[in-house]
Amino acid sequence: MGGIIIKTQEQIDGIRKSSRLAAETLDYAAQFVSPGISTGFIDQKIEEFILAHGAVPATKGYNGYPKSSCISPNNVVCHGIPSENTILREGDIINIDVTTILNGFYGDTSRMFCVGEVSDDAQKLVDATLHCLKLGIEQVKPGNYFGNIGFVINRYAMSKGYSVVYEFCGHGVGVDFHEEPQVDHAARRNTGALMKPGMIFTIEPMINQGKARTTIDKHDGWTARTVDNKLSAQFEHTVLVTPTGCEVLTDIHNEFPVT
Ligand code: MF3
Ligand code: CO
Ligand code: CO
Repeated sequence: MGGIIIKTQEQIDGIRKSSRLAAETLDYAAQFVSPGISTGFIDQKIEEFILAHGAVPATKGYNGYPKSSCISPNNVVCHGIPSENTILREGDIINIDVTTILNGFYGDTSRMFCVGEVSDDAQKLVDATLHCLKLGIEQVKPGNYFGNIGFVINRYAMSKGYSVVYEFCGHGVGVDFHEEPQVDHAARRNTGALMKPGMIFTIEPMINQGKARTTIDKHDGWTARTVDNKLSAQFEHTVLVTPTGCEVLTDIHNEFPVT
């Protein structure tokens, strides 16, 4: 209805701060990722860190979601609910997804973590998924089509023999958790809306070893798994369209140049 929000400078500054805090939270969480630790414990530490920095976790209470992060191991595509009963084991690959609300502004980011040594196949999937996010980010500039993000991601994933999850998407973010537009990770070239300076959205490809389809666990209504129980990986950044290119607002390690 309202269309894609063009953020004001004040909103951009607020969303940048929240985005950086979300990324710092992932850095903080990294130290707890090891065999024998529960995802529930990591979530507790994440919640403490976010609250200690004057923010709140956006997921807690969001449509009834119970925790401060999503932690999705192995065949879980996204929205894994952290639990004391989910114990990490050597060889697991897990996605930790954190969304902060700081002074009313949202920042959303996720990364993969490897628990000890992982298989070559798992590492290859993780590396390819990070490359998908990088390719998507390269498409962010004024006048480009949103569809080109999904076009380049899907082309690369297919070339590696993987599939792209189409049942969950990136999204506008910043003054609300999920804003317009929906950012598809598999799309046709030169389709969709045009990017304009001041737009802020996530790119968060979920890439599967096997089939693209997911199923939601009946018992919790959240956990999305691959239909064939093969591995899935995901990375997510929050990005701003600048007058000449892009700024990755959750990039606290300066892995992406501001263009
Ligand atoms: N952070 C997730 C995203 O990238 C959304 C999680 S919503 C929840 O959009 F309710 F599952 F937590
Ligand atoms: Co998101
Ligand atoms: Co997220």
